[in-house]
Amino acid sequence: MVFSSLPIGIFDSGVGGLTVYRALHDRLPNEHFIYLGDTARVPYGTKSLGTVERYAIENSEFLVSRGIKMLVVACNTASALALPKIRERIGIDVVGVIGPGGRKAVEITKGEPHARIGVIATEATVSSNAYFEAIRRASASAEVFQAGCPLFVPLAEEGWTEEPETYSIAAKYLSKMKEFSPHALVLGCTHYPILRDVIQQTVGENVKLVDSGEATAEEVETLLNEKGLANPNANTGKRQLCDDLDHFYVTDAADRFGRVAERFLGTKPSKLEAIEVYGVDELKGKK
Ligand code: DGL
Repeated sequence: MVFSSLPIGIFDSGVGGLTVYRALHDRLPNEHFIYLGDTARVPYGTKSLGTVERYAIENSEFLVSRGIKMLVVACNTASALALPKIRERIGIDVVGVIGPGGRKAVEITKGEPHARIGVIATEATVSSNAYFEAIRRASASAEVFQAGCPLFVPLAEEGWTEEPETYSIAAKYLSKMKEFSPHALVLGCTHYPILRDVIQQTVGENVKLVDSGEATAEEVETLLNEKGLANPNANTGKRQLCDDLDHFYVTDAADRFGRVAERFLGTKPSKLEAIEVYGVDELKGKK
């Protein structure tokens, strides 16, 4: 098989990365994807650096063992904490979501003389300052304010996208953000695009929301073209989300993953398997 016709690997701590999968799928209809959701060990957003690095490396090595041409780290927490370690360990291109999300926020606030950029994310992503640094690399002057919104993760998974409780939690989490009055707000966690409407209404219609998954899909497209890695075999017929060209793996609770996937994407993976990612070295010979 030619290298460029291999699938793109995506991993997340669980189901949230499906928002990044959807963005990639929409933008790159000729590509195939292998998705790994580490549902046995989710959440990552409350865990320490060493633990997230270890999980991220195990997930990456599992995906590499399945045969992929590029790795997308869909999980913001893993992107924030573990990207350098992953890059050290695996020999293919690795794209995280933080750089693209940060760069997009700078790009869309370019017209503002004193751009203010807000970031909402998990506790671990916020305390890593990874978004702050990504924004700083793209703009020396943008002012950045970050807020952790941990309860958004279970609310999105429950499908509470319109409930009054979700609006009141959003109002509480985002009150300082509103005072900061950002021009752009980065949705720095896989689950937050599911709560996009609540977040938009809470911060105000004039704030531009940045979906890091969409920004990442744009950069993946550019990278595939630059490196000559775009799939040379166009998919015939209409590509559907979760059709059998894409393969989904979870480390636990496949049924729940399928149910939440349906909530997030309106459809369930047709190929979904529960696996273990520990000791993946043994798998390498069996590919
Ligand atoms: N996927 C995680 C992220 O984007 C959110 C869920 C978790 O805490 O693991 O940061």
